[in-house]
Amino acid sequence: MHRIDLRPRRTSRKENGLTPAMIFFDTLDSTNTWAAAHFAELADCELVAAAVQTAGRGRLDRTWISPRGNIYASFVQKDVASPLLGVAAASLAVLGLVRELAPAEHFHIKWPNDVFRGTAKISGILSQYISPRNGASGGLVTGIGVNLNMSRDELAGAAQEATSVRILTGASVDWQSALARFEKLLSIHAAMLRNDPEALFASWKTENGLLGHHVEFIAGDGSRLTGLFRDIDADGSVILDEDGGRTLKLNCGDVRLLTRA
Ligand code: BTN
Repeated sequence: MHRIDLRPRRTSRKENGLTPAMIFFDTLDSTNTWAAAHFAELADCELVAAAVQTAGRGRLDRTWISPRGNIYASFVQKDVASPLLGVAAASLAVLGLVRELAPAEHFHIKWPNDVFRGTAKISGILSQYISPRNGASGGLVTGIGVNLNMSRDELAGAAQEATSVRILTGASVDWQSALARFEKLLSIHAAMLRNDPEALFASWKTENGLLGHHVEFIAGDGSRLTGLFRDIDADGSVILDEDGGRTLKLNCGDVRLLTRA
């Protein structure tokens, strides 16, 4: 059992191959929880990472299983012109990483920001808005989990079909090098967000693998609609040509590929 270390350690390349923009812990309850609690002390674009999470959190109050060997990180953004693009930068960085680690596989973003290989999830993102408090600025904490070395047994308890780089390639991944590379990819996409947000949006939209497909849209209240996922609006919403004939603009929920009978 790992003791939770609540002392931030800003690491340097010299120490262990990780980059200075990262605060790294061996064990945390959740990098999102920690980053949200220490938001005022953190700098814009800082990444809080941990080797192990004891209470990793997923969307919809799910647990994110977090043993050693994977990526658990939270990206801090203070100056958030667009939460959509902040999260898109993280999704695109994950996509770049898994493509480098498993070049023979096909990965895509599943709206809004998960990364999938076929019907199996390899990465999830949980973003949290932080309100301004006591004169300190608010912003966004974007938590990213990437399954690098998860085994089939470890993923058996996941809420939905899931995979890992190791399951796909048969080879284990050096998670520390992968984390350092992820930080680099994230900083490249964060720079793109600052310098060319339109290009970042276009890239995120292009990588949305279910665009143009017949899907089921599961709304936040659990209701379900089916139709053609025709487009993504400038604000990130799904434009769905519903099977019944209506065109709907939907911004909160999940999409799932449907195969026509
Ligand atoms: C999802 O349900 O798809 C979102 C999963 C997000 C998991 C990451 S791991 C790092 C960060 N800390 C957490 O507790 N959750 C996010």
